[in-house]
Amino acid sequence: MNTPGYPTIRMRRMRRDAFTRNMMREHSLSAANLIWPVFVIEGERRIQAIASMPGVERMSIDLLIERATEAAKFGVFGIALFPVIETAKTPLAEEAYSTTGLIPRAVKALKSAAPNIAIITDVALDPYTSHGQDGLIDERDPARYVMNDETVDVLIKQALSHAAAGADFVAPSDMMDGRIGAVRAALDDAGFFQTKILAYSAKFASCFYGPFRDAVGSSANLGKSSKETYQLDVANSDEAIRECALDVAEGADMLMVKPGMPYLDILARVRNEFKMPVAVYQVSGEYAMLKAAAANGWLDYDKCLMEALIAFRRAGASAILTYGAIDAARALASSR
Ligand code: PBG
Repeated sequence: MNTPGYPTIRMRRMRRDAFTRNMMREHSLSAANLIWPVFVIEGERRIQAIASMPGVERMSIDLLIERATEAAKFGVFGIALFPVIETAKTPLAEEAYSTTGLIPRAVKALKSAAPNIAIITDVALDPYTSHGQDGLIDERDPARYVMNDETVDVLIKQALSHAAAGADFVAPSDMMDGRIGAVRAALDDAGFFQTKILAYSAKFASCFYGPFRDAVGSSANLGKSSKETYQLDVANSDEAIRECALDVAEGADMLMVKPGMPYLDILARVRNEFKMPVAVYQVSGEYAMLKAAAANGWLDYDKCLMEALIAFRRAGASAILTYGAIDAARALASSR
């Protein structure tokens, strides 16, 4: 009924047809925005399911190459490598910078099989330490404090081993102070001035990392210890901006906010403050929640995944790390 006082401005007019809806869409998602995080294990033709991450597998390098080639065909931007170290965990994480270690070998193999997909390596010690922390521990301290500068020295060696293998980006995820500047200087000194740094700048001490710690086998080693002496307090936003400002000043090429969906406010703030490429990590717990709800028939995994990914774009992400990268890339390819 057209009674006086009815709205003259009707927002729904422009939502009536697909052509206006399509025309007005403010943000888009493409495979070029996606980073696929993968878990690498030693051996040949080895593949292991991860109970808390249905659809995600630990893979040996040969199998990974087949999947990476598929990802590259879809136009996926990058692959983020995470090692699963089965035997060589030590207090000082010496394996982390072995030039013949799992990650350097995976980088070389991937760069020769799929040169057009960016290879991003994780710079942090947690897969390699017997205690599961991202850095070296002060054994004399009853609180077993994670030492900053001693850790950075090891991170530098780790980043150099990745750059030498041909990594496109090294991605320090450890949250030690000063590591971006130290890694940048070391890379430049060694002639790796084209190696980019994706800094996990706003990384929160989140419980959404639980399934990841199962996947890399660091949860048992970590036990009851937490990462709150280096990762950000989940209640803080200004402090995240300060972390980002430091990493920008130290030479980061890209920043990261992590986790994703509970931290969209941080993502939007970081993008607005720094006007530079920002990545967001839809972490293991976010993926596990979607999968668990879908397994119960409570949510549609594919649709919810795409909705979450476009939300990251809307909030300002240039790149999104998601365990659903291949699912999303396939959906994008079939909708064209
Ligand atoms: C640690 C690291 C973590 C993740 C990536 N690198 C977990 C942690 O801080 O314990 C989490 C990723 C995820 O949950 O998907 N260097």
